[in-house]
Amino acid sequence: MKVGVVGAGLVGATAAFAMVLRGSCSELLMVDKNEQRAEAEAADIAHAAPMSHAVRVSSGGYEQLSGARVVVLAAGVNQTPGESRLDLLARNAAVFREVVPQVARAAPDAVLLVATNPVDVLTTLTARLLAHSSAQPVIGSGTVLDSARFRSLLAGQSGLDPQNVHGYVIGEHGDSEVLAWSGVSVAGQPLGEFLKGRGILFDDVFRLEIGAAVRGAAAKIIGGKQATYYGIGAALARITEAVLRDRRSVLTVSAAAPGDVAYSLPRVVGGAGVLETLMPKLDAPEQEALERSVAVIREAAAHL
Ligand code: 2OP
Repeated sequence: MKVGVVGAGLVGATAAFAMVLRGSCSELLMVDKNEQRAEAEAADIAHAAPMSHAVRVSSGGYEQLSGARVVVLAAGVNQTPGESRLDLLARNAAVFREVVPQVARAAPDAVLLVATNPVDVLTTLTARLLAHSSAQPVIGSGTVLDSARFRSLLAGQSGLDPQNVHGYVIGEHGDSEVLAWSGVSVAGQPLGEFLKGRGILFDDVFRLEIGAAVRGAAAKIIGGKQATYYGIGAALARITEAVLRDRRSVLTVSAAAPGDVAYSLPRVVGGAGVLETLMPKLDAPEQEALERSVAVIREAAAHL
């Protein structure tokens, strides 16, 4: 169960660390154009293995990705305060044009898991770069993290374990993302009914406040410490496990239908990547918001 991580910056290294702590894989290879950085991160993370799981961690070149079943693509730059994810497109698309062909040559059987922002546009680009040469599955971390933020905020309001709150953020991993309120359930009850039973008003103010907190989470963290990496690192480990163990987990990963851009919907993730897409229950305004969100990605992808 070998995993490659390309890009040994904060996101790549934290994903690798999360995989060691969770025992997601048995072998992990870190690749970075700054070889010294990859080597140092791999050594530091390897020293956590005796305290957690027997994962062999090393660093190396692209050719050593051979045999990997998942390769996480975390190379590129991240936002500085005030920048949106889409502002990174030109810089990170250039990085992906260089990296993706090398990864695909070395690990043609791996599922490629894109983490770099803007993740939906770069997932689209990766799928397009490979479209003529291979049928390699490409998925993006998409809104898996936003769905986790949504569930954890709702869990806080409900006083329950986030694992017992089911809700999805869909569309773009970015400012236009859509909270699919209509389908949220808590312990088998629709959210509105559950909150009513607890004396909490499920109104527009409630929805606006949670929506602003989910959408603004990354900017708030970046304002305080220049980057986000723990949440996305755990999300990447979770998605990787769903692939390696063929878990058939429902995760809001980003994926592209042929000829279209990639965006997030609840999708069944297993050994071959995305196995199925499950359209959530949406009311008319949510459906319209999803269409607007996908249009934002299409507009950005038109500049590729
Ligand atoms: C996040 O949402 C910045 O996309 C990154 O944490």
